[in-house]
Amino acid sequence: MKKICIIGLGYIGLPTAALLANKGYRVHGVDINQSTVATINQGNIHIVEPELDTFVKSAVNSGYLVADTKPTQADIFIIAVPTPFHNGYIPNIDYVISATKSISPYVKDGDMVILESTSPVGTTDKVEETLTENGVDTSKLFISHCPERVLPGQIMRELVENDRIVGGTTKEATEKTVDFYKTFVSGEVIATDARTAEMSKLTENSFRDVNIAFANELSILCDKFDIDVWELIRLANRHPRVNILQPSAGVGGHCIAVDPWFIVHAGGDDAKIIRTAREVNSYKTKWVIEKVKNKALEFEKKNGKKPIIACMGLAFKPNIDDLRESPALYITKRLMADGLDILAVEPNINSFDEFEIVKYQEAIKRADLFVFLVGHREFKNIKVKDMENLDFCGVLKYEK
Ligand SMILES: NC(=O)c1ccc[n+]([C@@H]2O[C@H](COP(=O)([O-])OP(=O)(O)OC[C@H]3O[C@@H](n4cnc5c(N)ncnc54)[C@H](O)[C@@H]3O)[C@@H](O)[C@H]2O)c1
Repeated sequence: MKKICIIGLGYIGLPTAALLANKGYRVHGVDINQSTVATINQGNIHIVEPELDTFVKSAVNSGYLVADTKPTQADIFIIAVPTPFHNGYIPNIDYVISATKSISPYVKDGDMVILESTSPVGTTDKVEETLTENGVDTSKLFISHCPERVLPGQIMRELVENDRIVGGTTKEATEKTVDFYKTFVSGEVIATDARTAEMSKLTENSFRDVNIAFANELSILCDKFDIDVWELIRLANRHPRVNILQPSAGVGGHCIAVDPWFIVHAGGDDAKIIRTAREVNSYKTKWVIEKVKNKALEFEKKNGKKPIIACMGLAFKPNIDDLRESPALYITKRLMADGLDILAVEPNINSFDEFEIVKYQEAIKRADLFVFLVGHREFKNIKVKDMENLDFCGVLKYEK
């Protein structure tokens, strides 16, 4: 069985490492974070993901998965490090370049190098260039991009079942990498070139962003026209070829709110719809803040006191604890900073270092005004008959 070295043991790298080790590959997992490495070597995990603990425990106990802070020689290298952006939405591939440099002393002729990180178009070529600059003869390597498209919460299943796109810098690299993924993926593994594979992942996330922006723009227009947007979308979707997504308080997370900028940065003025979608989704978040402030003023005028406002949900989407790039968190912090009296409710987390998390049952007793920001399942059963509320996620109206 081939030996695999995986660089980056986060939400993507660790599940992949554990899965491959359980398939019988010898896996050397690498992370620059010492405590992540120590946790994994004890058979434990540092991230929340269903079933991952069982996979990691069995992989480590069997000796097939070992974590380390340094790479080692292997037949296949997989890079799964972060690809955020710098200020000004400029793609940051520094982690990819640094991971590539770290493996260059260990790659040998005939090895495969696979970039799994979501990457701007041309990054796989930069991996090749970086290896060359570091003294590696890349003509003897097989270098490819295989973007990851798993859904957090279902990673262990989707790693196996999802279709995968593989694009190599050469035809041979594509073929060899496809054969490798076929050893553990039950979905289809589809061959293309590296640049198309990179663009494919960015396109998938931009598609979601553009379609959410359409729903968010409708929600703002419907508010202006005094129409219930949730009913409107439900009705429009009865058309056999219409499928409008749901509006929200904005778009968050580390993928959909980030990756479209990689296209906009490279595409400039030609990326009109993708840029506008980003702007509409960001504007929706600011619009929500203004709506809440106006509602609070109305309440104060009517009742002669400032309202206690419950911000219902902080995560970037329903039923998860992930606060990364979360519009709901941004809105809550902004309202607090502007002096409003806020109870922050997030049923999926117990504590937060910047403010107190209030249980939703307690918020129901204490708040005057409820602002529903995330459609968590706990909120669906709340009886809102006599409550003042603003529902920006439709949780009170329709099943998601
Ligand atoms: N998390 C998801 O749901 C998801 C889904 C699809 C694609 N992706 C993409 O996959 C990539 C990885 O995302 P993630 O969520 O796993 O990130 P993460 O932050 O959870 O994990 C990345 C890990 O890489 C480590 N690291 C950084 N630089 C390193 C280096 N030079 N050498 C070794 N380790 C290094 C970090 O310490 C961290 O543990 C990103 O490009 C992301 O956009 C993520």
